[in-house]
Amino acid sequence: MTDQPPPPAPRPAGPTLPLSAAAPAASPVAPAPEGSAEARRRESFYEAVGGHVTFTRLVDAFYDGVATDPVLKPMYPEEDLGPAKRRLTMFLEQYWGGPTAYSEERGHPRLRMRHMPFTVDPDARDRWLRHMRAAVDTLGLAPLHEATLWDYLERAAHSLVNSAGR
Ligand code: HEM
Repeated sequence: MTDQPPPPAPRPAGPTLPLSAAAPAASPVAPAPEGSAEARRRESFYEAVGGHVTFTRLVDAFYDGVATDPVLKPMYPEEDLGPAKRRLTMFLEQYWGGPTAYSEERGHPRLRMRHMPFTVDPDARDRWLRHMRAAVDTLGLAPLHEATLWDYLERAAHSLVNSAGR
């Protein structure tokens, strides 16, 4: 007589945790609450990497890449990328604790909503990130600053995908 296989392990008792019960992850594109430790961390980052000059260089280099991109360039509603460049610079400066011109001009960022008119699929995201990676590489930041900035940009780009693509 052969041994019987062991009975299947019992399922854990009780219902499984619904997704909504998990703590909501902080949005990578949301402003930090005023006066919070996170807000202070971002402010010191803005100064440490060189403030306005650095963010302007970053966004200029990024849009040099976008201008050559056959998928991204046609997504931009204006032929002139200048205004889009300005909006991204203001947003990043504000996010990182610099001047708050973005919200004064544009109101609450609501970036997911503002990207809804565009097809942000994994291909668009990866192209965006490729141009951003090249732009970050032009800055010559200290490794820790570079890693902090890149981690943020990657998370932000992933959070804005709104289409599965083909
Ligand atoms: C994932 C790939 C992305 C694509 C394909 C994309 C594409 C676009 C396009 C076509 C616009 C409209 C241009 C304009 O009128 O300004 C736009 C606007 C903008 N994007 Fe993105 N974007 C991406 C990711 C991001 C990320 C990661 C950020 C922030 C870290 C960002 C920040 C912005 C901002 C601040 C605006 C201007 C919003 C406004 O005030 O109207 N985008 N994006």
